[in-house]
Amino acid sequence: MNPTIENMLKHVSVRKFTDQPVTADQKNSLIAAAQHGSTTEFVQAFSIIEITDQKLRNKLSDITISSPHVKKADTFYVFVADLHRQATILRANNEKLDSIKNMEALLLSTIDTTIAAENMAVAAESMGLGICYIGSLRNNIKQVAELLHLPDFTVPLFGMTIGVPLTKNQLKPRMPQRNQVATNSYDATEFNELSNYDQIVKDYYINRQTNPSDTSWTEKNLAIFKEVHRADVGAFLKSQGFSLS
Ligand SMILES: Cc1cc2nc3c(=O)[nH]c(=O)nc-3n(C[C@H](O)[C@H](O)[C@H](O)COP(=O)(O)O)c2cc1C
Repeated sequence: MNPTIENMLKHVSVRKFTDQPVTADQKNSLIAAAQHGSTTEFVQAFSIIEITDQKLRNKLSDITISSPHVKKADTFYVFVADLHRQATILRANNEKLDSIKNMEALLLSTIDTTIAAENMAVAAESMGLGICYIGSLRNNIKQVAELLHLPDFTVPLFGMTIGVPLTKNQLKPRMPQRNQVATNSYDATEFNELSNYDQIVKDYYINRQTNPSDTSWTEKNLAIFKEVHRADVGAFLKSQGFSLS
């Protein structure tokens, strides 16, 4: 195993940071890493907004409810799926916007943005920094868009806190590969036989140092998915110009 993969397999989300700053050089490298990910047909359908204004940080942190580290982390980026540039090009050429309104375009920009973010995450961790994605910005996606003055055909997908780790959680055990990886076709039997993994996750949660709990992976997913979350996201996407068709 090479050092890149060793680092990737050590990933944990970091939610407590020291006061040590992320340097300008490090930030440049992080942005460059994000920009150099693969991108659908070279369209580069994402933007990254660094939030340096502490009042704005506080407002965004309040939206997340669960993520006070948004206030305190040295660096906080918001990742925006962004087809506004393409909209501008189409408008300038008197073309219709149908091709950027549809679900395919929305997926494309979501994928491009996520690839950029994960490139940044891997780069940050290779420098000894810690990161945490902040999807809970979508608790009030409309307000986030307003606070950041986002134009049409943009979506604030998630944030990322970055800093020097103060403490790190224990590694969360991922699924055994047989539960997630198959050859040639979907393996419904293996993919759904999760009893072994449930026990592994239960042991992890019972024994972990912070917030221990008696929960299996199945129980956790049941708790998450038995309720509909963020039912306003569809309406927000429509208000940004997407047809969702
Ligand atoms: C898109 C996305 C959104 C996330 N949003 C949050 C968040 O709002 N707050 C938080 O504390 N962690 C958030 N996380 C971190 C996950 O909870 C974490 O990755 C997961 O529990 C696995 O733990 P690990 O990253 O330590 O391995 C998010 C992760 C992803 C990929």
